Amino acid sequence: MPHQPHLEETQAISVFTPVNLLLLTLALYLIYTRLRPNPSPPPPLHSSSAAGQAIVFKTFTPKTLQPFNGTDNARVYLAVNRKVFDVTAGKGFYGPGGPYSNFAGRDASRGLALNSFDAEVLTEVGAPIDSLEDLKEDERVALNGWAEHFEGKYLLVGRLVEEGSEEAKEAEKEE
Ligand code: HEM
Repeated sequence: MPHQPHLEETQAISVFTPVNLLLLTLALYLIYTRLRPNPSPPPPLHSSSAAGQAIVFKTFTPKTLQPFNGTDNARVYLAVNRKVFDVTAGKGFYGPGGPYSNFAGRDASRGLALNSFDAEVLTEVGAPIDSLEDLKEDERVALNGWAEHFEGKYLLVGRLVEEGSEEAKEAEKEE
């Protein structure tokens, strides 16, 4: 008569099946990834592009940002809330002929806040930077939502400052 395992023995065997072990490993891994400290560093001052070319955090004025419009320069930049992002990876959106090409090389803040890609919504390149002070609450919320989108998706490559400001002069000296 073959050996009949005791009840506990049967349960022990059924608990440690390969599938259960796999699930247990997966569960432990998920717990570990959730609990471990966030390793992502603060926005980089110096970082690298996909091409391995060094990108240095820079100071832009509306005029020095303008050439990054996808036509005059291979890289496409835009500003949101005075932060300049490298949106070259989204050239389909912002490059020539793209639906949002008006934003390329420009401060896109008001357009994003008002959900409009009309050129008239954007501030003239030679004019002072839009203070955005008149935005309504829902427009401000929309703008901040977009700012988060850009922060999550694209590389922060600089800040936008007023032409002729101390920051702009400092940056000019450093170049
Ligand atoms: C006419 C109706 C519109 C349609 C059908 C449309 C469609 C789309 C689609 C399909 C995407 C890609 C989403 C993704 O893959 O993550 C997108 C992204 C985007 N849309 Fe629109 N859109 C419209 C209007 C607008 C307007 C008025 C604005 C002006 C603020 C706008 C700004 C954007 C921006 C900034 C992105 C993100 C692109 C990126 O991730 O770099 N869209 N839109």
